[in-house]
Amino acid sequence: MNRRYRKTIIAGNWKMNKTLTETRAFADEIRPLLGKPKWCEVVLCVPYVNIPAAIRYFKDTRIAIGAENCHYEASGAYTGEVTAEMLKEVGVKYVIIGHSERRQYYNETDFTVNKKVHAALEAGLHPIVCVGESLEQRELGITSELIAYQVKAALAGVAAEQVRRIVIAYEPIWAIGTGKTATAEQAGEVCEEIRAVVRKLYGARVARAVTIQYGGSMNAKNAAELLAQPDVDGGLIGGASLKPADFVQIVNAANQE
Ligand code: 13P
Repeated sequence: MNRRYRKTIIAGNWKMNKTLTETRAFADEIRPLLGKPKWCEVVLCVPYVNIPAAIRYFKDTRIAIGAENCHYEASGAYTGEVTAEMLKEVGVKYVIIGHSERRQYYNETDFTVNKKVHAALEAGLHPIVCVGESLEQRELGITSELIAYQVKAALAGVAAEQVRRIVIAYEPIWAIGTGKTATAEQAGEVCEEIRAVVRKLYGARVARAVTIQYGGSMNAKNAAELLAQPDVDGGLIGGASLKPADFVQIVNAANQE
């Protein structure tokens, strides 16, 4: 983390978990535990259908609500899809774009990720853009090239003043939901490389201001070590964000004075 130049953001990605009732129970449980995180922003990205209620339930907490996806078009015949503007209007602040599960199961490509980034920015949302390599790609030694490509493709056509509103999440696919976390060094190294790519494209001032998260089996135990890396400015947390006590411990790790 480097709070002098950029925001630290701890974001939960609930994926396809929690009913409305469970969402309310989570809010009630986390409220007394959370306090007022001073140094970091806290976000929960929840299933579409629970967003309006979640915004009400978490209103008196410091938790902002995010979505897990959006469509890239502004309207039209796309059955089952939701636009960035719809999200903005109900009070969403962040939207995850290009999560590896969406790339893997719903055929999202770097091209659609880029279109979604533009749509989200246009609607006034903060995109959380996910990039990450598979185990095979890491073993082939092409992690750096692949991540650089994903970042460049996601940011194509994005203006410098817009990049400051983007969060980039480095999520190695082999670490997601596997209990296998990247070491702090591995996470720090790739996040540093991501910042170098942003620096090349937009210059040092913009690169310094961009929040870069790590995601992949981040939990209450390993959060502090990962966040101690200078280029790891927060986390995108799956499993551990479903348990109020665990999630609060991660927030606390990011909130040390
Ligand atoms: P886990 O924390 O469950 O590994 O999930 C990480 C993730 O995919 C966050 O987007």
